[in-house]
Amino acid sequence: MFILVTGGAGFIGSHTCVELLNAGYELIVIDNFLNSKPESLHRVQELTGKSFKFYQVDMLEEVQMERVFLENRIDAVIHFAGLKAVGESVSNPLLYYKNNLMSTFILCQLMQKYNIKHLVFSSSATVYGLPESVPISEDFHLKALNPYGRTKLIIEQVLQDLYSSDPEWSISLLRYFNPIGAHESGLIGEDPQNIPNNLMPYITQVAAGKLHELEVFGSCYPTVDGTGVRDYIHVVDLAIGHLMALEKTFKSSGVHAYNLGTGQGYSVLELVSAFESVTGVRIPYRITNPRSGDAAICYADSTKAWKELGWKAKKGIEEMCADSWRWQYNNPDGYINKVKGPHITNEEEFLVQK
Ligand code: WQD
Repeated sequence: MFILVTGGAGFIGSHTCVELLNAGYELIVIDNFLNSKPESLHRVQELTGKSFKFYQVDMLEEVQMERVFLENRIDAVIHFAGLKAVGESVSNPLLYYKNNLMSTFILCQLMQKYNIKHLVFSSSATVYGLPESVPISEDFHLKALNPYGRTKLIIEQVLQDLYSSDPEWSISLLRYFNPIGAHESGLIGEDPQNIPNNLMPYITQVAAGKLHELEVFGSCYPTVDGTGVRDYIHVVDLAIGHLMALEKTFKSSGVHAYNLGTGQGYSVLELVSAFESVTGVRIPYRITNPRSGDAAICYADSTKAWKELGWKAKKGIEEMCADSWRWQYNNPDGYINKVKGPHITNEEEFLVQK
């Protein structure tokens, strides 16, 4: 089976490519390296010993995109590519609407043209907005709070309409909660391009001495210790969820949304404490004002994914902390320095399509 993976060089994309290759799938990966580095794909190849086709493509360029479809057999698509910084989406909404929506429309039009109707879409728990209660299940009211989340919600609705127009489509909408952690090898992981927006990469950069201290956004929420509670899920568990959703798209048509979370919430200070006890590294922090738009508590009811996909998260918070730290410790500057090693393959084996 040949799978087109958009955004395959990213944090979740690269971890999913590892699982797909190990499961025997043939991959065609596209990425524009706006928020990722080629080195992540070299590491995927090193980890799996497998080659795959790669195209450096701006998904807004229809001619470039059609070339991928013309040159390859594609049985299904996993669509990760997209801008995902909440704050940036608020300050530059048009960039987010154009990039995330147009790229998806171009992708789906080409899938339709080439009769490829199996799609796994990278959605987000952000489509639930501020949940009225927890745990959150897939039938909850959908209401995005920022342009980034609205692009995810709009795409979900477009994909529902696509299926209504042609019931041959089989689409899984995967609503991620808070992905953290890294592959146990420490070779691939989350590589923020600037100061991290998200909690775990901020913690690991404090631990590595790259940042001075953690700012804890608010301590007056109605939670165990007043700090925000989230459902942190190991990125490898998340990657495996994509394989199980992919298999589901080959078995039945329709549009199905799934929460990919652990169902367990941890506060900011609980995560800090878990990180410190697992790594032995102290994380200095200070309490600051709450971040606007933050929910107090957000965690998943993922029983639908278990019942329909046979998926549930297996890795606990300690493993998430240990794996996040191993990645950061081994790669203090992320993927910047391409370290030549016995297993790093050259471009030819990488099958970069010029
Ligand atoms: C987690 C908790 C913060 C940073 C975001 C996106 C969501 C998804 C996952 C893409 C909150 C607190 C954070 C810091 C802190 N991304 N925090 N200090 O906001 O739950 O979700 O990332 O799909 O769409 O909204 O994740 O890691 O930013 O925050 O205290 O420096 O940590 O207030 O309680 P969030 P996060």
